[in-house]
Amino acid sequence: MVSAEDARDVDLSVRIGGLRLRYPTMMGSGCYGSGEEFARFADLARIGAIVLKSVTRLPRLGNPMPRIVHTPSGMLNAIGLQNPGIDWYLEHEIGKLAERPCAIIGSVAGFSVGEYVEVTQRLAERPEIDAIELNVSCPNVASEGETFACDSRATSEVVSAARAATRKPLIVKLSPNVTDITVIAREAESAGADALAVINTVRGMAIDVERARPRLGNVAGGLSGPAIRPIAVLAVYEAARAVRIPIIGQGGIASLSDALEFFLAGASAIGIGTANFTDPRVPERIVDGLAEHLAGQGARSISEIVGRANVGFADVHQYEGDAG
Ligand SMILES: Cc1cc2nc3c(=O)[nH]c(=O)nc-3n(C[C@H](O)[C@H](O)[C@H](O)COP(=O)(O)O)c2cc1C
Repeated sequence: MVSAEDARDVDLSVRIGGLRLRYPTMMGSGCYGSGEEFARFADLARIGAIVLKSVTRLPRLGNPMPRIVHTPSGMLNAIGLQNPGIDWYLEHEIGKLAERPCAIIGSVAGFSVGEYVEVTQRLAERPEIDAIELNVSCPNVASEGETFACDSRATSEVVSAARAATRKPLIVKLSPNVTDITVIAREAESAGADALAVINTVRGMAIDVERARPRLGNVAGGLSGPAIRPIAVLAVYEAARAVRIPIIGQGGIASLSDALEFFLAGASAIGIGTANFTDPRVPERIVDGLAEHLAGQGARSISEIVGRANVGFADVHQYEGDAG
């Protein structure tokens, strides 16, 4: 029987570059706003961080409706990076974040290296922002719209440029829509990333068979939720043995058991996105469950289980504490 005291003594904290989070849980970009609406249903002091909705240089209206389709064990979204643009964001939104009892991570999107640099710089210089996540799943106008995250050279270029623009911790969020995620993961690490978020949504589409038309206004969208969890777990497993920096695993996490899969595969922290739409208490339940689970195993900290199911992990992360 695990006592509440034993569970309380377990260290769930995690280090991402120079940022220490009390809990290894981050709320996925685009799925939690800036936490305002969720504060009524969840205790924000008991999550690690909120990753804000991705912001671009200019305001974006997003894709044509419909933008969301329910699928078995998941959802397809094609929001199209709807956001008010960095000027409006800094003027009207960012001040509210100082009250949040958890870390705040700004998410940057763009269509050119210059745009990533400008938005990174402007967000990162604000004291309310603890770290920057680069959402590199955007088309690069300089290379005929090829997604940054799908091209190792473009990933390297954008990460190096953003690295030079801020000394705050830099997380690079990788796309699963690539042939070999380890190639991109290594490029991001060499270019100066402090951590990798693995994975963003998986490309997909759905067709309305009555109307013989794509269901999403944008035709293609990103699949998230439990349907993508096995894809995400494998991506984390592979990336974790390719790089030494921490991995924030995400994709379909909705329970303690889901979260454990990611830690055991080699994630030092987890992201929770779609599950928040149906149950905002999922992140708190996972944190409680993790503490009890670890105490029950006689573990003192979350780092003791990171990479345990990954046979190549120990070779890369040779000494204790390296993973967290
Ligand atoms: C409606 C919606 C909007 C999203 N918007 C963003 C975004 O703006 N930037 C980003 O990096 N990821 C975005 N994501 C991806 C999530 O942050 C997360 O990485 C992904 O959905 C996988 O995790 P999940 O299955 O727990 O949702 C979005 C996902 C959803 C469902």
